[in-house]
Amino acid sequence: MEIVLYNTVAIVTGMLVTREKKEKERHLNTARSLEKSLVELKQTKQDLLQAEKLSAIGQLSAGLAHEIRNPLSSIKGAVNILAVDYPPEHKKHRMLKVLDCEADRLNKVLTAFLSFAKPQPLQSTRINLINKVEEVIGLLKMQAVSANIEIIRDFADSPPLIKLDEGQMGRVFLNIMLNAMQAMPDGGKLTVSIKKAILDKKEGLQLNIGDTGCGIKPEDMSDIFNPFFTTKSNGTGLGLAICYRIIKEHQGNIKITSRPQQGTLVSLWIPIES
Ligand SMILES: Nc1ncnc2c1ncn2[C@@H]1O[C@H](COP(=O)(O)OP(=O)(O)O)[C@@H](O)[C@H]1O
Ligand SMILES: [Mg+2]
Repeated sequence: MEIVLYNTVAIVTGMLVTREKKEKERHLNTARSLEKSLVELKQTKQDLLQAEKLSAIGQLSAGLAHEIRNPLSSIKGAVNILAVDYPPEHKKHRMLKVLDCEADRLNKVLTAFLSFAKPQPLQSTRINLINKVEEVIGLLKMQAVSANIEIIRDFADSPPLIKLDEGQMGRVFLNIMLNAMQAMPDGGKLTVSIKKAILDKKEGLQLNIGDTGCGIKPEDMSDIFNPFFTTKSNGTGLGLAICYRIIKEHQGNIKITSRPQQGTLVSLWIPIES
């Protein structure tokens, strides 16, 4: 009798424990999926805010930029006329040079800004991403050699062709690689890798650009995509804002992780069909 009782208790306890375990697992799963949704929601909110910010700034300042262009060309014209009275040997000629250079610099910022404020529609074609990336590396090769920067490639064998706007995406790669190089004034390693990657069940290519440079301060991380945020004396702060917009227009993704004094990794994901 006692044995039967013991067995019954054991079986019931066992059943209860299994049920409790299952219940716990179910709760854990729910918690996990809720957590995932929260992360996704936060990302969407951030994307929306960023898009709103960019579009407001873009609209406001496109007109302003045009208004600045005209007086700038008048200033450049006046400099040329004054150069007759102040030839290179004159001690005030240096001042004219300052005027001329600063007007050029403003013009450069303005050009970058206008291309940012007035997004061009995508003109996508199907290309081999490796060729495009090689083309951009080609533009930077000489600069890398003289800055003592080693470029390391890690490309997947024959990745699938990808549909994107070559001109705009080329600018993204150039901006990011330039940032990487500017972060390594005393030399270092620039690593570029391309591999296939699935994101949200969509097939795409992941392009990672890593450097061993100065890194980004944790407190700056939330600002780096904002237009005009720069820590460089001659920066425009438009590079990453433009990259962000172009990547989002391609339905892609950009993620930056960084460690001060160690380096920065920019991960781009672009869908094969955008
Ligand atoms: N690879 C990098 N390493 C260190 N800092 C970076 C890197 N890329 C971007 N940053 C930081 O983000 C800021 C914004 O970059 P960007 O929008 O390209 O503007 P800019 O290059 O004109 O400063 C930079 O001034 C710099 O502080
Ligand atoms: Mg830049």
